[in-house]
Amino acid sequence: MEYVIEMNHITKEFGNFKALDDVTLCVKKGEIHALLGENGAGKSTLMSVLFGLYQAERGEIKINGKPVKINNPNDANNLNIGMVHQHFKLVHNFTILESIVLGRETVKGGFLKMEEARKKVVELSDHYKLKIDPDAYISDITVGMQQRVEILKMLYCDNDILIFDEPTAVLTPQEIDELMKIMKNLVDEGKSIIFISHKLNEIKAVANRCTVLRKGHYIGTIEVETTTKEEMSEMMVGRKVNFHLDKPELNTGDVTLSVKDLTVVSKTSHKNIVNQVSFEVKKGEIVCIAGIDGNGQSELVYGITGLMSIQSGQVLLNGKDITRESIRKKSIDGMAHIPEDRHKHGLVLDYSLQENLVLQTYFEPRFQNKGIIRFNAVREYAKKLINQYDIRSGQGEESIVRDMSGGNQQKVIIARELDRDPDIVIAVQPTRGLDIGATEYIHRQLINQRDNGKAVLLVSLELDEVMEVSDRILVIYEGEIVADLDPKNVTVQELGLYMSGSKRSVKA
Ligand SMILES: Nc1ncnc2c1ncn2[C@@H]1O[C@H](COP(=O)(O)OP(=O)(O)OP(=O)(O)O)[C@@H](O)[C@H]1O
Ligand SMILES: [Mg+2]
Repeated sequence: MEYVIEMNHITKEFGNFKALDDVTLCVKKGEIHALLGENGAGKSTLMSVLFGLYQAERGEIKINGKPVKINNPNDANNLNIGMVHQHFKLVHNFTILESIVLGRETVKGGFLKMEEARKKVVELSDHYKLKIDPDAYISDITVGMQQRVEILKMLYCDNDILIFDEPTAVLTPQEIDELMKIMKNLVDEGKSIIFISHKLNEIKAVANRCTVLRKGHYIGTIEVETTTKEEMSEMMVGRKVNFHLDKPELNTGDVTLSVKDLTVVSKTSHKNIVNQVSFEVKKGEIVCIAGIDGNGQSELVYGITGLMSIQSGQVLLNGKDITRESIRKKSIDGMAHIPEDRHKHGLVLDYSLQENLVLQTYFEPRFQNKGIIRFNAVREYAKKLINQYDIRSGQGEESIVRDMSGGNQQKVIIARELDRDPDIVIAVQPTRGLDIGATEYIHRQLINQRDNGKAVLLVSLELDEVMEVSDRILVIYEGEIVADLDPKNVTVQELGLYMSGSKRSVKA
């Protein structure tokens, strides 16, 4: 049997925490091999060992049958291994072009040959339909675009073994379809792929085999074609998973959030990226903003929450004008925000888990006395939330958030925001990167908020989530609300037509 990669008996410890315990992964040449496991199971850690970012305490790695030592990412590159990281490693003040070329610059007479590089990048981006603007700065682009840049960066290097660590979590459904095609083309060209995803549909669609990890242990490797999604989730979680979501009857009250004629101007194009948008969210209601990425939904939320200044318009919370209030004041007034970019706006990565849980509340008397933080109170509070939201990490409340797994970082934000008992929760892609169990849990939490008479504004690119969770769908297209729909009376296909701008139900 020809394996391109053999990882045998890999054990990786962080302090006295075993992130990987005797794990095996064997990838055949020319296959797409999926890696499945709950948040914190050890998937990214295993890939970091393969890519030379971490050294395993025990175990061996063979590439094409030969034992190798991979001490750093350069060794990995020399062995023709490329990786798309879950947490982007892009330099913020670089342009997209510079980021892709970084580390692979070709030089002539001491000068960078940028024009050649640009040509190759543009060709790759056209060929693989990964739309980017080579001259935009990393700091100004959305997470979806950052993901496309990461993928292009890997393709630019032309490696034989490709690791995709959750590339689809931040892509739109259209981009995911494209990426699936790209991956199939790449294996047809003779490459081998390791693909990490929490979405069983995607694994079903592209992968040949799938290895399942649970809490750092190897559970098994299966043939994807002959295994059902239910069987895979059971292997992953260790028990049967309930896919059904119960939702009591809608019972709305007064208006909680009211947005009036909001206009936001884009920093890059100077156009109205949000154009005169008005809508309301009532108590007891989940309103979803649906749309194809880049139609102004991110900026709409930035405008409402105060992350970006607005051109004109008004935001009212419980009837009070909060348009110009500070972010802290908005938070105290009852606004919670689960942001799209969890690293940039949701967490302080070098703070501990417990510190991140009190970012909006540390100044309250329960956590502070005469300017001194009451650390015991903070710790007890963190322990409660960790338990309640099943936040998994190596060092409990003391864990540094940067070292936590992607899905568990997301849970930290959700726990912090929901536990403040807000009047409105603005949740942008709240289940991005979460495993099946955690996704189900978050959906139930949002529905609980609604059933307790709170308002929820959900922004999601995932149509399944939109259809399942929301009570009302507002479709945004080119910065305007073009449809106001009841999910019970609309099909996914119709929703697609509104999202692509071919249909509209709200007058211009
Ligand atoms: N540098 C580190 N220091 C301490 N603990 C770490 C470090 N890196 C990872 N861990 C811990 O190892 C465990 C596995 O993390 P890993 O990122 O591999 O999970 P994952 O399977 O990729 O999860 P997700 O689906 O959420 O991305 C987690 O509990 C994490 O907190
Ligand atoms: Mg991971």
